[in-house]
Amino acid sequence: MVMVVREIGVVGSGQMGSGIAQLAAVSGFHVVMVDSDENALKKGLQNIHSSIHRAINKGQLSKSVADDALQRLRCSTSLQEFHSTDVVIEAIVENENVKKQVFSELDKVAKSSAILASNTSSISITRLAAATSRPGQVIGMHFMNPPPVMKLLEIVRGAQTSEDAFVTIKGLAHRLGKTVICSQDYPGFIVNRILMPMINEAFYALYTGVATKEDIDTGMKLGTNHPMGPLELADFIGLDICLSILKVLHDGLGDSKYCPCPLLVQYVDAGRLGRKRGIGVYSYSGTPKSNSHL
Ligand SMILES: NC(=O)c1ccc[n+]([C@@H]2O[C@H](COP(=O)([O-])OP(=O)(O)OC[C@H]3O[C@@H](n4cnc5c(N)ncnc54)[C@H](O)[C@@H]3O)[C@@H](O)[C@H]2O)c1
Repeated sequence: MVMVVREIGVVGSGQMGSGIAQLAAVSGFHVVMVDSDENALKKGLQNIHSSIHRAINKGQLSKSVADDALQRLRCSTSLQEFHSTDVVIEAIVENENVKKQVFSELDKVAKSSAILASNTSSISITRLAAATSRPGQVIGMHFMNPPPVMKLLEIVRGAQTSEDAFVTIKGLAHRLGKTVICSQDYPGFIVNRILMPMINEAFYALYTGVATKEDIDTGMKLGTNHPMGPLELADFIGLDICLSILKVLHDGLGDSKYCPCPLLVQYVDAGRLGRKRGIGVYSYSGTPKSNSHL
């Protein structure tokens, strides 16, 4: 049955989870945001407050809509809070085993009619669904970063996703103001299947000394009209996330063209994860670490 969604749960309060929770609350939904790490939860809530205040200052949001949105948002470190939610959107670390564990726990706590969605950038929805007893109600909702700003939502149908779940999530996407594209369940779906090889190639260009990072980014910004250069974008996404997606593409499609560039691997090993850590390809000391352009 197609469902009328009233309450949304979000697991993970990092850059994507906090953005999705903010978007859903501002769009009129009751929202529960859960993170296993209390500090991450506090940081996620702070990010929501600052992002909402920036939107008010820019005249994009009225104070009363913002106040109502914050009233509708609650936070917790316990998945038990999802007992009444209609849709739960998972946005935790891009690791298949950790996600499967969370889906299996969500399956136990969420009501039987609830739809379980993943914001995964690349991992198989079919395999996440297999960790639950409700594979027909598991679907991919791949938001772009930052979720309150970017217009696109990529919906991914797993092998067993039901038509009702798909129609419900498509309706929800429209209520969140998103334009929908629909992908079958293949590694990287549509956007990252195309974007990540470009980012990886930019790393190879830097690694092999073709040009400086600035020239690679300027080349793609001015030469192909991209709003951000590929290395700048990789820092914005998170180098750990980019590496995880490339590994999924490499393992899932078995083609050496997806093999992650050693320089990307080395940056991640060194903890240079991008903007969220203050250093990635570029250094961000003295600038805000997350979604600073919002
Ligand atoms: N960063 C991007 O640009 C982007 C874009 C689209 C999709 N995604 C996807 O969104 C997801 C999250 O990415 P992010 O950039 O927000 O990561 P992030 O590192 O900013 O946040 C992840 C959060 O998940 C929490 N977490 C980890 N394990 C948990 C668990 N078992 N239970 C509850 N919380 C847990 C962490 O404490 C952290 O706060 C990933 O699957 C990623 O591929 C990311």
